[in-house]
Amino acid sequence: MPRFIVKGGKPLFGEVRLAGAKNAVSKMMVASLLTDEPCVLENVPAIGDVAIVEELLKTIGSRIERAGDTAEIATPVIATSRVPELTRRNRIPILALGPLLARAGEAEVPVLGGDKIGARPVDIHLEALSRLGVRLELRRGSYRAWAKDGLRGAEIELRFPSVGATENAVLAAVLAKGRTVIRNAALEPELIDLVMMLQKMGAIIELAPPRTIAIEGVPRLHGTRHRVMPDRNEAVSFACLAIATGGRIFVKEARQGDLVTFLNVVRRLGAEYEVTQEGIGFSRPGAAPDGAAPNGTHALRPLTIRTDVHPGFMTDWQQPLAVLLTQAAGRSVIHETIYEDRFGYLNDLAAMGADVSTGTECPPGDACRFGGQECRHVATINGPTPLKSSALAVRDLRSGMVDILAALVARGISEVDGADEIDRGYERIDERLRDLGADISRA
Ligand code: EPU
Repeated sequence: MPRFIVKGGKPLFGEVRLAGAKNAVSKMMVASLLTDEPCVLENVPAIGDVAIVEELLKTIGSRIERAGDTAEIATPVIATSRVPELTRRNRIPILALGPLLARAGEAEVPVLGGDKIGARPVDIHLEALSRLGVRLELRRGSYRAWAKDGLRGAEIELRFPSVGATENAVLAAVLAKGRTVIRNAALEPELIDLVMMLQKMGAIIELAPPRTIAIEGVPRLHGTRHRVMPDRNEAVSFACLAIATGGRIFVKEARQGDLVTFLNVVRRLGAEYEVTQEGIGFSRPGAAPDGAAPNGTHALRPLTIRTDVHPGFMTDWQQPLAVLLTQAAGRSVIHETIYEDRFGYLNDLAAMGADVSTGTECPPGDACRFGGQECRHVATINGPTPLKSSALAVRDLRSGMVDILAALVARGISEVDGADEIDRGYERIDERLRDLGADISRA
């Protein structure tokens, strides 16, 4: 397993440009299957998740040409709509069911992989598809689907605003006959970016309060050119890195509109940000000017955070925030309400000297759907505690980034095993961190 060797304890300074959003680009690549004309995507990141979707599309018959961060994808003919397996797995192939059914009448895709951060069932996806006229069979390792009478518009009420299930329903409804109304839909910015691409392809999609997406099916879609939005999860990782190391990082292309909730948290923590036309700069008061060691860096303030669906505090942000909270003076609480099992990484922070614990009880007055169940979805962090270097094994993408972050804060040399997992979602992370002054190498 490739690993990172990290020598920490140094503030990071400089400028970094965000890559295109992993959780938008992968869905847009699937959306290109909805037309026989070429789609051009700009700002495509060089990450493992994109490579997995490329394998899926090429098996289906797509021609993909890459030039820098631009990808042209054309699928004039569906060579096969049955892809029972791929060499690697993530959570994307199930989203291809709708487009494949629209173009070929039948489809087969591998069951999902992806991070182990809870049970992650797909019942809401399957229920939404069945409302649209899809019949499904779970085979050994794959889903096989038919739409004998074609895809038909329908009323769909999601029991939870799942991002993936909403995307699945949208991708199946755009070419369906008639009108589809998806209630209690997810409205994450990456999903809205996908909707904007589909609109340019000729889809008719309305967004209405509260959490409603209405789609008027059209007989065909055409090719388009679309620039993938910047990755707001990368933005938060770099912001936390600047604040945790007592440095100053300007995150180019970070957009205030995607980060409103996070920016409020930065302010409550006692750290600083500055929004400009080009991006957002993050720092911690008391940090020295560029390049120098931190000087009298202020203690951070503890916080209570609840993760939530957009526009709440995103679940993918709680892990880098936890590293900051180990440096805050007092007791912080993170109430995770999206995934029931997303605190495995706290064991790594504990091994590095953090004072952390988890519990099953929702905080008083803040009940969530995991209350009363045996899932440890509430974390308490007592700070500040110095972090010491350690040998770490990456558990999943976001917690892998926590390992890197904590290793960069800790004094001494840490080894982070599982670079592949981090490469799945962060483009050339070691190179970009070195540009900020980090001592990190790949072994
Ligand atoms: N859920 C169900 N049934 C379903 C679908 C979801 O019970 O059919 C539950 C899940 O088990 C989970 C919750 O609903 O507890 C939220 O799941 P959702 O479907 O919203 O998430 P997703 O589409 O699988 C995407 C991102 C995640 C991100 C979540 C929440 C991608 C590829 N993944 O996952 O990103 O955390 O939305 O915003 O877009 C990451 O990038 O590291 C990552 C995990």
